[in-house]
Amino acid sequence: MTRDSGHFMLCVVLWSVVFGIVDGYRPVIIVHGLFDGPKQFIQLSKFISETHPGTSVTTIDLYDDVASLKPLWLQVSGFSTQIKSIMENAKDGIHLICFSQGGLVCRGIIATLPEHNVHSLIFLSSPLSGQYGVTSYIKRAFPNCVTHFVYKLCYNFFGQKISICNFWNDPHQRERYLKSSKYLALLNGEIYHSKLPEWREHFLKIKKLVLIGGPDDGIITPWQSSQFGFFNSNETVVEMKYQDWYLRDVFGLKTLDSRGDVVQCVVSDVKHVFWHSNFTVYENCIEKWLT
Ligand SMILES: *[C@@H]1O[C@H](CO)[C@@H](O)[C@H](O)[C@H]1NC(C)=O
Ligand SMILES: *[C@@H]1O[C@H](CO)[C@@H](O)[C@H](O)[C@H]1NC(C)=O
Repeated sequence: MTRDSGHFMLCVVLWSVVFGIVDGYRPVIIVHGLFDGPKQFIQLSKFISETHPGTSVTTIDLYDDVASLKPLWLQVSGFSTQIKSIMENAKDGIHLICFSQGGLVCRGIIATLPEHNVHSLIFLSSPLSGQYGVTSYIKRAFPNCVTHFVYKLCYNFFGQKISICNFWNDPHQRERYLKSSKYLALLNGEIYHSKLPEWREHFLKIKKLVLIGGPDDGIITPWQSSQFGFFNSNETVVEMKYQDWYLRDVFGLKTLDSRGDVVQCVVSDVKHVFWHSNFTVYENCIEKWLT
């Protein structure tokens, strides 16, 4: 090989690595939200295929539409089985995009799947710290229900069999929430349990956490729940960094943040059902994390 052709080859190799041609892009798995399914993510899949040709994109076809009301631990076990089989064939890992309620499902999957190889974990307007507000989607499940009465439906054995109740977080009913929550309070370590250190370890295996949301969402209440913020007892929003479970680093969020691996992408003028079909959002908040 001459010196020039050697340089040329080196160039080709570098160029190919930079543009992902040699290694290819990691597979992307999408976990849908409440009352939706793969149909709603066709546009997002197209954005990914167009910008990163050759990427394998799978929207898991499970618990679609009304079945999305099933309890979240059940959904976690179903989604985990399918995600695991994709992971096993992806030696360099995968990226996970989780929309809305799907973000809570993904938190459960990450916590309980020891062998996961998730690189970027992207939460697209997910009520990560819970929901307190009967907005349109929630109304479909609880018609004629006023926000401050929902706890009566949710905070008991039967209520916890409905997905929304698994992350209903009434700031005026702390004691009842802590006593009956079978899901969010466990993930947040608001109730102590012996699995916490193990779940934290699994959470810390992710390489990047991307939090996308914004003030015009209209469904997630408060919208800052998409950034791990939430209401205190007088309905003032307390940011992620001042949440008790962040300060105590119960599930690893503080460590991840101090590692520099928590990215917040707050965008205005996007309504809840448009997050996954808005190209500006894709370009500014998602694309660069899917390599
Ligand atoms: C509500 O909470 C905020 C922040 O914690 C606090 O500054 C304020 O004094 C509280 N207001 C009332 C009426 O308790
Ligand atoms: C798309 O997002 C931009 C902000 O990034 C926003 O201004 C625009 O209104 C959005 N479009 C839709 C249809 O949501």
